[in-house]
Amino acid sequence: MPYFSYKDGILHTENVPLNEVAKQFGTPVYVYSKAALTENYTAYASACQQFGQGDDPALICFSVKSNSNLAILRHLSQLGAGFDIVSGGELQRVIRAGGDPSKVIFSGVGKTSNEIRLALKHNILCFNVESLPELHRINDVAKEMGKQAPISFRVNPDVDAMTHPYISTGLKENKFGVDYLAALDCYRVAAGLQNIRVVGIDCHIGSQLLDDAPLLAALDKMIELVDRLAHEGIRLHHLDIGGGLGITYNDEQPVKIAHYLQRLFTRVNHWRLHEHQGRPIKMMFEPGRSIVGNAGLLLTEIQYLKDGPVKNFAIVDAAMNDLMRPAMYEAWHRVLPVKERNAPAKTWDIVGPVCESGDWLARERQLAIQQGDLLAVMSAGAYGMTMSSNYNSRTRAAEVMVDGDKFHLIRQREKVQDLYALESFLP
Ligand code: LLP
Repeated sequence: MPYFSYKDGILHTENVPLNEVAKQFGTPVYVYSKAALTENYTAYASACQQFGQGDDPALICFSVKSNSNLAILRHLSQLGAGFDIVSGGELQRVIRAGGDPSKVIFSGVGKTSNEIRLALKHNILCFNVESLPELHRINDVAKEMGKQAPISFRVNPDVDAMTHPYISTGLKENKFGVDYLAALDCYRVAAGLQNIRVVGIDCHIGSQLLDDAPLLAALDKMIELVDRLAHEGIRLHHLDIGGGLGITYNDEQPVKIAHYLQRLFTRVNHWRLHEHQGRPIKMMFEPGRSIVGNAGLLLTEIQYLKDGPVKNFAIVDAAMNDLMRPAMYEAWHRVLPVKERNAPAKTWDIVGPVCESGDWLARERQLAIQQGDLLAVMSAGAYGMTMSSNYNSRTRAAEVMVDGDKFHLIRQREKVQDLYALESFLP
């Protein structure tokens, strides 16, 4: 994490000391590094240019669910990103941020008619269809609007992503996608519908993948389907392999973005030339965590230190409502003191003020800390703010983007009035 380092005993994001951010905007606050974000996106974009073939070999669609802040979406859009969305709300965010709807793909198992209408109105690039009933609904809505809807099927390749069961999505027993064996039939149905245009094929097998072997296995299975469809005269414009690359939270060593893409394009290029008769096919990616995960942290202040008979607790002002991942997946996030102290460390559980035993951010960490100190919960840029809630009527954290030696507020801290603004009394 070169964008997060100690200078003179104080943790910085780029050139900004984190105590300055806390002083100006309070805590808890999410802090992102613009340079880290840029570097991660660029790792994808450059590898696609380097290893892909043709002028326009790939589109990188940032997975909006991982972080949907407008400033982040705008920055990625300016770098050339498309977007992977799963709701009408995410589409509206992309548009508000200045993103290009013609680079938007719409995933998710439960698209409503209204969401489909909105997406068609904005001429998105593609719907990733997850069932036949959904296909028929898209066809009906497109018909009513006098349009043709571009679609892919999200195919479930039945490969084991070897990740946490809650974030593994490519196995037969998952709710996602259409079954591999049923996929050909689904395409035949789609090809016969008047208001549907078949443009691609899609899969996404899971998240926080450390090895690219499952992704490459899924790629092979997708390629096999593309070939079989081509034999039936159904020609696809793109192959979307989804997102899923993991990051380092503790000591994991995920495959590097460039290495994965090199292996992937070696396979794709060889196949195109020898088996796909040189026809172009655009590769699409839906990364979230690997772009934004290690570009952000959650900054929090220690309220109390509490020594217990078996455990010591550092009670901080961030909680499970701000960062759900530990409570939900027992996820491990590194915790760093903003100010390095020359004192003996003790073992602490870092917990929030929410009335749930599950409200912890980290367990059994060796830290030299005092009441009032700031702590940085690292690698919190993905699925941090987007999964936050107002449980316990807690206002959601502010968000700040660091850019060199400057920092900018990109989301104000909510006010309590915001929380009940939509509520009303009985007559
Ligand atoms: N595409 C689709 C269809 C997805 O469902 C997901 C994530 C992505 C792309 C992006 O995957 P990524 O590159 O970020 O791994 N809340 C969990 C992660 C849930 C992932 C859901 N799908 C967590 O905090 O670990």
